[in-house]
Amino acid sequence: MAKMGTSSRVAAAIVVVLGFVLSLAVVCNGGKTSSFVRKVEKTVDMPLDSDVFKVPPGYNAPQQVHITQGDQLGKAVIVSWVTVEEPGSNTVLYWSAYSKKQKSEGKFTTYKFYNYTSGYIHHTTIRNLKFNTKYYYVVGIGHTERQFWFITPPEVGPDVPYTFGLIGDLGQSFDSNKTLTHYELNPQKGQAVLFVGDLCYADTHPNHDNVWWDTWGRFTERSVAYQPWIWTVGNHEIDFAPELGETKPFKPYTHRYHVPYKASGSTAPFWYSIKRASAYIIVLSSYSAYGKYTPQYFWLEQELRKVNRSETPWLIVLMHAPWYNSYNFHYLEGETMRVMYEPWFVKYKVDVVFAGHVHAYERSERMSNVAYNIVNGICIPVKDQSAPVYITIGDGGNTEVLATK
Ligand SMILES: *[C@@H]1O[C@H](CO)[C@@H](O)[C@H](O)[C@H]1NC(C)=O
Ligand SMILES: *[C@@H]1O[C@H](CO)[C@@H](O)[C@H](O)[C@H]1NC(C)=O
Ligand SMILES: *[C@@H]1O[C@H](CO)[C@@H](O)[C@H](O)[C@H]1NC(C)=O
Ligand SMILES: [Fe+2]
Repeated sequence: MAKMGTSSRVAAAIVVVLGFVLSLAVVCNGGKTSSFVRKVEKTVDMPLDSDVFKVPPGYNAPQQVHITQGDQLGKAVIVSWVTVEEPGSNTVLYWSAYSKKQKSEGKFTTYKFYNYTSGYIHHTTIRNLKFNTKYYYVVGIGHTERQFWFITPPEVGPDVPYTFGLIGDLGQSFDSNKTLTHYELNPQKGQAVLFVGDLCYADTHPNHDNVWWDTWGRFTERSVAYQPWIWTVGNHEIDFAPELGETKPFKPYTHRYHVPYKASGSTAPFWYSIKRASAYIIVLSSYSAYGKYTPQYFWLEQELRKVNRSETPWLIVLMHAPWYNSYNFHYLEGETMRVMYEPWFVKYKVDVVFAGHVHAYERSERMSNVAYNIVNGICIPVKDQSAPVYITIGDGGNTEVLATK
C-alpha cells in the first residue's frame, strides 16, 4: 500500500473529479494531495447552543432539511425535514425557471428511542424532474415556509463530467465544522457528496441521546439541503442498545435518512445503487449480513452484472469499514467482507472503493489478494490492474482521535 505524504493527517473532505483520479491512482507515491490537515489532538463536540445547531425561527418551522437522490437515474429527489410543534404539511412545492409550480406529497414518521421522542420526520419524493436543471423548493407550507434549491444531475452517459465530494465519519465537533467549511470552500465545487458512514455519533452520548441526531441534521443542512448526500451506513448508525431496550439496529438512521434502495432492486436501505452522470455507484453495508446466501450477497451478485461500462464507465463502491487498512485502528475489520466480495470487484473491474471508519486518509495502488486458497499459501496482495484503488477517508472530524499508527 502506498501511503501519501503526511499520510494520516491529510484531507478530511476531498473532491473527486471523474476522469482525473484514475491517472493519479497509479502513481506509487502520490505525495501530498492537500494542504488541509487536521490537528492530531482530540477535538470536542460543539456545544448545544452553537450557531450551527440553531433552530430556525417561526412556528413549526421545518428543520434538518436534507435531500438525496430519489431514483436510479437522478430524475427524482427525496426531500426530508423535521417539524417539532405539529406534523404540519407533507407537501413540497417546487419549480424551475422553465416550469410552473408543482406539488409533491409525502409522509411523515416518528419514533422513540429509550426516553427520547422524535419530531415529525417528513419524507417526500419529487419525481419526473428534468436533468441538469435548477429547482427551487419550499417546505413548511401552511406555517413557516422555508425555501431551498438544488440542481439535478446531467443525464447519465459516458462523457458526462461530474464532481463528487467525499466525507466520512463527520460527527459534530469543531473539526467537523471545519471539514464541512473546507468542502464548501473547495474551488472544485462538489455537486453531490458521497458519504461513507458514521454521521452524528449520537451513540457516544449517554442513552445514545438522540438529540444529537437533531443537532447534526441542523448542522449539515447548510450543505445537504442544496445538494444530495449519498448515504452509507457506519457502525455509529447501528444504535443497538439492549441495555436501553433498543434492539432494532439502525432505528434512528432508517427513520431519518431515506435512500432509493427499491429502485435498484434492493430489499433493504443499507445496500443499493444509483447512477449519476458517468458513474455507477454501489453502496454496501459493512454491518448487515454479507455472507453467501444473504440478501446483500444475492443483490450484489445481480447488481454487478447490470453495470454497463459503455453507459457508466465509472464504477464506484462505497462502504464503511475499509478492506485494506494498514493502521492498527480497526485493523482487519473489513477482512471478512473482502474475502467474500473481492473476486467480484476484480472481475467487474471496480475503479475505486471509498471507505471511512479508520480516522485517517490512506490510498492504495491497484492491487488484489484473491489468489489464496486453503492449501496454496498465496495470501499476499499483488499489483493488479483489474483491481480497484482503495481510498480511506475517515477523518471527517468526530471526537474520537485520529489514527496515527
Ligand atoms: C432520559 O433519561 C435520562 C436519565 O436516564 C435523563 O437524564 C434525561 O433527562 C431523560 N430525557 C428525557 C427526554 O426524558
Ligand atoms: C462553523 O463554521 C461556520 C462557517 O465557517 C461558522 O460561521 C460558524 O461560526 C462555525 N461554528 C462553530 C461552532 O464553530
Ligand atoms: C450499454 O450502454 C450503451 C450506451 O448507452 C448502449 O448503447 C447499449 O445498448 C447498452 N448495452 C446494454 C446491454 O444495455
Ligand atoms: Fe466507524
